[in-house]
Amino acid sequence: MQNKESILTPWEVKGEIDYDALIQQFGVEPLGQDLLDRLEKRAGYLHVLLRRRMFFAHRELGDWMDSYEKGVQAVLYTGRGPSGNTHLGHLIPWILTKYLQDAFGSDLYFQITDDEKFFVNQNLTLDEISGYTKDNILDIVAVGFDPEKTKIFTDLTYTKELYNIAARVAKHVTFSTAKATFGFSDSSNIGIIFFPAVQAAPCFLPQRLTGKDAHVIIPCAIDQDPYWRITRDVAPKLGYRKPAGIFSKFIPGLGAGGKMSASMPETAIFLSDSPEVGAKKIKNAFTGGQPTIKEQKEKGGNPEMCVIYSYLYSLFDEDDKAVMETYNSCKSGGLFCGTCKNRLAGMVKAFLEEHQRKREKAKKEVDRFLLK
Ligand code: TYM
Repeated sequence: MQNKESILTPWEVKGEIDYDALIQQFGVEPLGQDLLDRLEKRAGYLHVLLRRRMFFAHRELGDWMDSYEKGVQAVLYTGRGPSGNTHLGHLIPWILTKYLQDAFGSDLYFQITDDEKFFVNQNLTLDEISGYTKDNILDIVAVGFDPEKTKIFTDLTYTKELYNIAARVAKHVTFSTAKATFGFSDSSNIGIIFFPAVQAAPCFLPQRLTGKDAHVIIPCAIDQDPYWRITRDVAPKLGYRKPAGIFSKFIPGLGAGGKMSASMPETAIFLSDSPEVGAKKIKNAFTGGQPTIKEQKEKGGNPEMCVIYSYLYSLFDEDDKAVMETYNSCKSGGLFCGTCKNRLAGMVKAFLEEHQRKREKAKKEVDRFLLK
């Protein structure tokens, strides 16, 4: 996948990711202006994650919007694997999911893959995973989804409905396809080999539960795409629509290179970090600045490789003019890393304060969201 050093599977992302190459390799479509215009028209505005192309690719987004316009239930499906605390990267697809729920009034099915994380992590016990599940669900509720339209469920507790669909999916996926798609080997445990059928199942759940035709779209980062390739192959064999998808890039980690990853806690801003710790992490993050002020003035900085600039650009600074000015002044040597770090640190601190306030409130509301 990609170049020799880079790896991209649902469980491992390493090295530089070439997103243009991924579009070819995975057979997804670039997210073009025509679709963005349609989204903007429906929502009344274009979310910053779309405007700045953090979401860069899709599958049949246009068809999904057509279904909505024709009165077919246009449903959202996304998820979380509860292997630790939630970080800022996980939030990216959820923020877009909320935008789409608001714009289309869609039902949202939210899968928590507690089984997946048990199969994949040698050291995690089911009790630990259950703790993270409860904790992560509060972060999900805090995003602000509509309680009337959002159904959160975990694989280990909502097994009856899911297993019924997963069994039918599994029968159509050979071991050879699963191996080629996910890189399983003889030492993979048989739980994880079956698991792709469980992650496919919610694509067909809305139709099963409502008894009505449903068109599902999945907002997620591109690492989850192997699941959808399998699901889309199987869908017509079971008499369902193929799920559509809208895919994001990875928000980078705080260090030089690589994505924000819970398995490398030093790279991540966790939603459970105190606002002060979050701000401090930003102040210690990797930048594209020169080693000295003198060199910065002479040569200018490299916003293209700066973690701080990338967070401002993709999520935190919604003002197009301001973000352009940051880029230009950094390039021309008129802006120093301390200024950008302080600015972003303030934004991250405010963001964490707000999220944690909503998370407290979520404790009282969570039951309304759970599918049992
Ligand atoms: P998980 O818990 O690893 O990740 C949750 C969501 O976050 C995305 N993601 C990121 N997005 C941007 N920047 C990052 N640095 C970053 N890191 C992770 C993931 O793509 C994912 O969308 N197997 C899944 C759980 C799942 C799921 C789904 C996810 C079940 N059904 C449907 C998406 C859609 C998992 O372990 O995700």
